[in-house]
Amino acid sequence: MRLGILVSGRGSNLDAVLDAVADGRLPDVEPALVIANRHGVRALEVAARRGVRWRVLARTDFPDADARDAAVGAALEEAGCALALLAGYDQLLGPPYFEAYTGRTINLHPSLLPRHGGWGMTGLAVHASVLASGDAETGVTIHDVTEELDAGPPIVQVRIPVEAGESVSELADRVLAVEHRTVVEVLARLSASMSAAPPAPIRARR
Ligand code: GRF
Repeated sequence: MRLGILVSGRGSNLDAVLDAVADGRLPDVEPALVIANRHGVRALEVAARRGVRWRVLARTDFPDADARDAAVGAALEEAGCALALLAGYDQLLGPPYFEAYTGRTINLHPSLLPRHGGWGMTGLAVHASVLASGDAETGVTIHDVTEELDAGPPIVQVRIPVEAGESVSELADRVLAVEHRTVVEVLARLSASMSAAPPAPIRARR
């Protein structure tokens, strides 16, 4: 399964996925292309260090966000990606993306969606919102991506209890560690099913 990974910043989930590919835990995954929406981010260093092809498709290189989204979709299509993983990609993908790219797209979110999702719910803001809400648990959601932000059907949710007195950054670190494991598990599952040989045709009996 050829995989495209979209990133905007730190790239720790990208790192976790490429680690798993390198040590044989994802035998059916072939990282084909990393796309970032800005230059100079750590995620691009991760891709370069691992020898994965990467490109920057920045909003400012295109007349508008629709043109950028169409280019992102076309790049994934051209690279033959069956699956695109949004691993900390901070842009909403509009209809031109879904018109240009025929594969499946999944996203990682560091809470139990729909709790603490939507506009502004990125980075530490997610975990600050969890602590402020008094929720007893948070978690990780991996879901299919639709045109609506953080709203596609979940593939998996992992629950994590919130600990009394912990800080935003302590909670963020614990959730991130679970994300790193979960993304590898989900990719293992999806790649095994997507790479499986199609069933033999059933012959009509005479
Ligand atoms: C992750 O927490 C992911 O769930 C969210 O953005 C963060 C990206 O982190 N969408 P990293 O760039 O993979 O380190």
